[in-house]
Amino acid sequence: MTTRALRQQLELLRNSGIREIYRPHNTQAESLAALQSHYADCTKCGLHKGRIKFVYGEGDPDATAMLIGEGPGEQENLTGRPFVGAAGKLLDDMLKAINLNRQDVYICNIVKCRPPNNRNPEQTEREACLPYLLEQIEIIQPRLILMLGLVAAQTLLDSKLSMEKLRQTTHEFQGIKSYISYHPAALLRNPQWKRPAWIDLQNFRDDYRELRK
Ligand code: URA
Repeated sequence: MTTRALRQQLELLRNSGIREIYRPHNTQAESLAALQSHYADCTKCGLHKGRIKFVYGEGDPDATAMLIGEGPGEQENLTGRPFVGAAGKLLDDMLKAINLNRQDVYICNIVKCRPPNNRNPEQTEREACLPYLLEQIEIIQPRLILMLGLVAAQTLLDSKLSMEKLRQTTHEFQGIKSYISYHPAALLRNPQWKRPAWIDLQNFRDDYRELRK
């Protein structure tokens, strides 16, 4: 239908007293895709200066679990996809170990543009980007969240506690049960943390399975 024809039809409806029309909601995938392209030129913080690609997130728009990392690295900035570099390969393996793959979950980050030299995103950058993540959570409505690394956990839980403390228990974020574990990049640098990370992952998996029953 052309815009003119649509306008005429709306006019007709209005003249016959109809003030509201039912418009089906976008699917979650459509909403996420629309928002991704809407925000792709964001300049809310300085990170946009180094941006090649805006790394919004990817995976199942109706996922039971959302995985939240820190921010894009070099490969992610080049491709526009989260966790595709070395840490991403390890994340794929970690998911495989609990019989999941990245299409089963939704993966994104605290900040959507790469911090220079992969430094931690600053508080102002995290705050500027947080509404995008909150909106993603609102649309996807996951039942579980896995926060990968201290930046994600401390930002979302507004905490200064160590990883050792934070991972000892589950938390609630926006009413959603949240697990915290080591960032895969940290595991690559500190293989001794792989054992505790495996424990976290198994707990997460057990909950995930229970929810999917
Ligand atoms: N590290 C992250 O936290 N996120 C990515 O997407 C890649 C590396």
